[in-house]
Amino acid sequence: MILLIGSQKGGVGKSTVAINLAVEYARQGRDVCLVDADAQRSAARWHADREEQGHQPAVACVEKFGTIHQTLTDLATRYDIVIVDVAGKDSREMRTGMLAADTLVVVVRPSQLDLDTLGHMSEVIEQAKDLNPGLTVRGLIAQAPSNPAISERTDAREYLADYPTIKPLETVLYERKAYRDVVGEGLGVVEWSNPKAKAEIQELAAEVQA
Ligand SMILES: Nc1ncnc2c1ncn2[C@@H]1O[C@H](COP(=O)(O)OP(=O)(O)OP(=O)(O)O)[C@@H](O)[C@H]1O
Ligand SMILES: [Mg+2]
Repeated sequence: MILLIGSQKGGVGKSTVAINLAVEYARQGRDVCLVDADAQRSAARWHADREEQGHQPAVACVEKFGTIHQTLTDLATRYDIVIVDVAGKDSREMRTGMLAADTLVVVVRPSQLDLDTLGHMSEVIEQAKDLNPGLTVRGLIAQAPSNPAISERTDAREYLADYPTIKPLETVLYERKAYRDVVGEGLGVVEWSNPKAKAEIQELAAEVQA
């Protein structure tokens, strides 16, 4: 299975999602390959820390830039799950990744500026679907405010409903310090002490492959 984590906006939490799903699937006993297709190398640097610290289970990591679909298809024959982290912009990596992916997770923060990028994103998705009709596209709200008095999360869900190409996931990732704390340790939140973050990632892992 090839899982592409994308968005046209920077800093929404794509690398965080990719890393944490990789750890969760590896803990379930799957062979996981994380593909870092962003020259910022967030996932690759996290992976280097994980290897240096000797954390188990191991996750494989490959860096690949430019046209990536052939590489993804090859990796999918060798790994159970290939998770692809791309840059927060409309890039060649994101577009060619969509040609090979089984599922695209579009990550958005519940802010108007992020949600405004969805119009262009859904056009790019429509083009990819002409060539890869089997592509499943899910929307993930991330970094949602955990204060229940703030209604941004529900507003974002309503906004996603305007884009029928992007089916919203039930799982929402909240803004939690644990997501920031684990990265430098080469860990995922499922290996950390915050049960809420752990539950979110486990729910997400189950939902995206359902
Ligand atoms: N749910 C969350 N709660 C708290 N902090 C988060 C959460 N998700 C991401 N962050 C933090 O927000 C910042 C941006 O996250 P991340 O690097 O995953 O985003 P990105 O979409 O991959 O960015 P880029 O577009 O630059 O690749 C990081 O400092 C990360 O630790
Ligand atoms: Mg990133």
